[in-house]
Amino acid sequence: MARDRNGYRHRVPNPLDTLKALGDQLRAQIGEELDFEALRRQEPARPLEDLLAELDALPGLESVKEQVRALVAFLRVQARRKESGLPEVATTQHLVFLGNPGTGKTTVARLLAQMYRSMGLLKRGQLVEVDRAGLVGQYVGMTAIKTERVIRKAIDGVLFIDEAYALARESDRLDFGDEAIETLLKRMEDNRHRLVVIVAGYPRLMHRFLDSNPGLRSRFSREIDFPDYSTADLVEIFSQFATESSYRFGEGAEDALRSIFAGAERDESFGNARFARTLFEQALNAQALRLGQGDVDTLTHAELAVLTPQDLLAGARALGEEPLPPQPERSSWFGRKPR
Ligand SMILES: Nc1ncnc2c1ncn2[C@@H]1O[C@H](COP(=O)(O)OP(=O)(O)O)[C@@H](O)[C@H]1O
Ligand SMILES: [Mg+2]
Repeated sequence: MARDRNGYRHRVPNPLDTLKALGDQLRAQIGEELDFEALRRQEPARPLEDLLAELDALPGLESVKEQVRALVAFLRVQARRKESGLPEVATTQHLVFLGNPGTGKTTVARLLAQMYRSMGLLKRGQLVEVDRAGLVGQYVGMTAIKTERVIRKAIDGVLFIDEAYALARESDRLDFGDEAIETLLKRMEDNRHRLVVIVAGYPRLMHRFLDSNPGLRSRFSREIDFPDYSTADLVEIFSQFATESSYRFGEGAEDALRSIFAGAERDESFGNARFARTLFEQALNAQALRLGQGDVDTLTHAELAVLTPQDLLAGARALGEEPLPPQPERSSWFGRKPR
């Protein structure tokens, strides 16, 4: 105990406690952006060729692959030019991904982030994915703080803003989305060489969003379109899910699958590859129910691996789809719903 000027006794604070409290406070403030552990743990950059091969192996996405290859070529040439002392071309490196849900936007963004890293353009190449709720606060002043924090996390990597149009205000009502956009634009400028921002969402809404703010429009000039997957793409994507988990198609299963995808309602909420994934999960449930009717202990390797047309159709029905009769590939016009 010690006495202060007025003669009151106080417990002298332990300097170690003070240091610890200071440390906690610092960690609370900067901990999220300075993840030293994560930095140390980071694996070496994957070669660009590997990443391009992984992109190539994704079913469908032909136009996306072409556009990514063109972007990569451009960036490599620019990097080379810089190395040989030529001036930098003033272009924006930020991107717009236009497409419905489940068309592969996040998947491709994650690969692209690693490509930036392996080209030496971004030091870490992590992907930080947020939506409106991750950027916008509920009180005055909170939004700038939240947005800044997210940006610090994304520095030296890619910030992926899903459904970015939700940041634009709908009416004249005060909306903190504007504050997020302003903060974002400012930080993008300050960190020109350390941050790539990708804004993603439904094409129609994204165009309206970009056109709502000249600052946005000028910084996001490069757009990549993610078309909906074709029936054949979805069959291939589903087959990949199956192969990855050691399932295989029984007799007629592929035709059943084709008929399910061909017959599914194709509006903006269709879900694309996400639909393929939930259908896969439902088919596994249906298979388990079917197998569970017999003696599970005596099931063979082959029986455990096979998905039958019935499993797939039951899975589709669980998702509210009323599939058409199985569709052989060649007579694809036959039995199709008129649309
Ligand atoms: N071409 C593809 N091949 C295999 N799986 C895919 C493909 N595209 C998307 N997926 C899978 O579908 C799901 C949704 O994809 P995602 O990239 O998140 O789409 P989006 O971001 O456009 O909504 C993920 O599970 C992803 O792995
Ligand atoms: Mg996504």
